[in-house]
Amino acid sequence: MAKEILRLEHIQKRFGDGDSSITILKDISLTLKKGEFIAIVGPSGSGKSTLLSIIGALLSPSSGNVILDQENIAAYKPSKLTSVRKNKIGFIFQSSNLVSYLTVKEQLMLISDISKTGKKENVKKATDLINHLGLSHRSKSYPAKLSGGEKQRVAIARAFMNDPDIVLADEPTASLDSERGKQVVEMISHEVKTRNKAAIMVTHDERILHLCDRVLRIEDGQIFEKI
Ligand SMILES: Nc1ncnc2c1ncn2[C@@H]1O[C@H](COP(=O)(O)OP(=O)(O)O)[C@@H](O)[C@H]1O
Ligand SMILES: [Mg+2]
Repeated sequence: MAKEILRLEHIQKRFGDGDSSITILKDISLTLKKGEFIAIVGPSGSGKSTLLSIIGALLSPSSGNVILDQENIAAYKPSKLTSVRKNKIGFIFQSSNLVSYLTVKEQLMLISDISKTGKKENVKKATDLINHLGLSHRSKSYPAKLSGGEKQRVAIARAFMNDPDIVLADEPTASLDSERGKQVVEMISHEVKTRNKAAIMVTHDERILHLCDRVLRIEDGQIFEKI
C-alpha cells in the first residue's frame, strides 16, 4: 500500500479579526499518498493558493492539522516552517520566478546551496534533472533566452532539486499555450511517478486534468471530489 505523505484535518483559514474577518477555508480535509498527483480546481478567490501556502509551510491554518510526513506542522513557528519548506517542499509558480542573472544550471544550484547535501552530489542532481527535462542544450542559458515552456521546465527541475516530499504547483500552465501546458504537466507527472513523490497542482485548465490521478474542487471553503 502506498505510504501517506500528507493529511489535512479540518483546516480552517480566517483572514483579519473581529467583525472584519473573513473565513476563506472552512473545513478542508484530504490525504495524499506517495506517487500521487492530484489537481485542485475552483473559482478565482476560492482559496486555492491559500491552501497551497498552508500545505507548503508558508502560512499556518487558523485551526486544523497539517500532517506532513507524520509531523503536524500546523502550529509551527516561522523558523521551523522555513526548515520544513526547505527540506520537504518544492514549489512551481505560475510565472516561473527564475532569477534573471543566473543560468539554468545556476538556478538549480541555488536551491542546493540552501539545502542539505554535498556539492558534488548536487551538480550531478542538477545535471540529471536538466537532462531529464530536455534542457541539456539550455544548461548555460539565461532565462531571457528561454521560451515560456522552457522556463517552466526549469521551474520543475528546480522544484525537485531539494528532493522534496511534495511538489506544489500553482497554475503552472497559466502562461503557456495548450500544447506547451500539456507537456509541462506531463513532465511534472513523469517526475512524480519516477521519483515516487507526491504533487498537488492548482489549475483552471480543464484540458490537463486527465493527466492527474484525482481532481478535487474547492468551493465555498469546502473541498469535494470532482466527478
Ligand atoms: N493575506 C491575506 N489577507 C486577507 N485576505 C487574503 C489574504 N490572502 C488571500 N486573501 C483572500 O482570500 C481569498 C482567496 O485567495 P486565494 O487563495 O488567492 O484564491 P485563489 O487562489 O483560489 O484565487 C481572496 O478573496 C483573497 O483576497
Ligand atoms: Mg491563486
